[in-house]
Amino acid sequence: MRTTATAFAPATVANVGIGFDILGHAVEAIGDKVHLTRTATPGVRIQAITGLALDLPLEPEQNTAGQALKSLVESQGLDFGFDMVIEKGIPLGSGLGGSAASAVAAVVAGNAFLEKPLTSLELLKFAMKGEAVASGSVHVDNIAPSLFGGLVLTVGIDFPRTKQIPVPPGIRCVLVHPHMYLSTKEARRILSRTVEMSDLVWQCANLAGFISACYTNDLDMIRDAFEDVVVEPQRQALIPGFKDVKRSAMAAGALGCSISGAGPTVFAWCEQKDAKDIETAMSKAFLMHGLQSDRWISEIEPKGARVIA
Ligand code: HSE
Repeated sequence: MRTTATAFAPATVANVGIGFDILGHAVEAIGDKVHLTRTATPGVRIQAITGLALDLPLEPEQNTAGQALKSLVESQGLDFGFDMVIEKGIPLGSGLGGSAASAVAAVVAGNAFLEKPLTSLELLKFAMKGEAVASGSVHVDNIAPSLFGGLVLTVGIDFPRTKQIPVPPGIRCVLVHPHMYLSTKEARRILSRTVEMSDLVWQCANLAGFISACYTNDLDMIRDAFEDVVVEPQRQALIPGFKDVKRSAMAAGALGCSISGAGPTVFAWCEQKDAKDIETAMSKAFLMHGLQSDRWISEIEPKGARVIA
């Protein structure tokens, strides 16, 4: 009988620029871990939160990992419970899907204790219950890629269907996280409720072009289609220096550059050979605007969350 389990769930870049709320990819370089210990007492207790974000609620109902595991436990009618320790590797409010990763790691670790483990698709809805605690709205573009890995398109909300999209070989994602906090709720609140028809057409063309280019390894098409004409123009003012950071990334050879999720992390897709120069250029641009940053260069691997111990 299993008595402990630890799961890792990767950070994610939601939207990937052109797929607001429906497209996201995993970032293998960073993530959250959840350690569970089986207890005879039913229920879920959070014992500690360690790592990069300590200021999070310990009440399971108010914590993304706690609520996600609780909903899994209740659905399975388990007669045992869990003590949980959350290890945050993803900075809070960074736009890297930290709340989703904790929820995903919790359900993947919990699944390891089930006599008949659930499929990843079945786990998705429990992780969504956790993510809803933090974001106050339902979108799956962080949870799905964290759970499944790679680049993931999600269609539907109540019964989401997901599709892993192939990423051309050798693509890297450069992530630059300026040292500032941005609230996802605020970054959603400022968005206009309506979209111009011409922008809708442009955005649809870019999303369709981007996805078909991923299937056909067409890097020129990815570069042409990598432009969010709806959300990025409205959010960029929330990130000091965004325009300069993007300009620097593109000048250094990026295929595309945009805001990761609700920000403030800015990401760029590129070929492996250009990644280091792009990282340097982006962080220098943030520095010109008085912002220090953390930086990662990551592959977009189709691995997703997994039990690691
Ligand atoms: N798609 C979401 C947004 C991701 O951009 O608001 C943030 O969690």
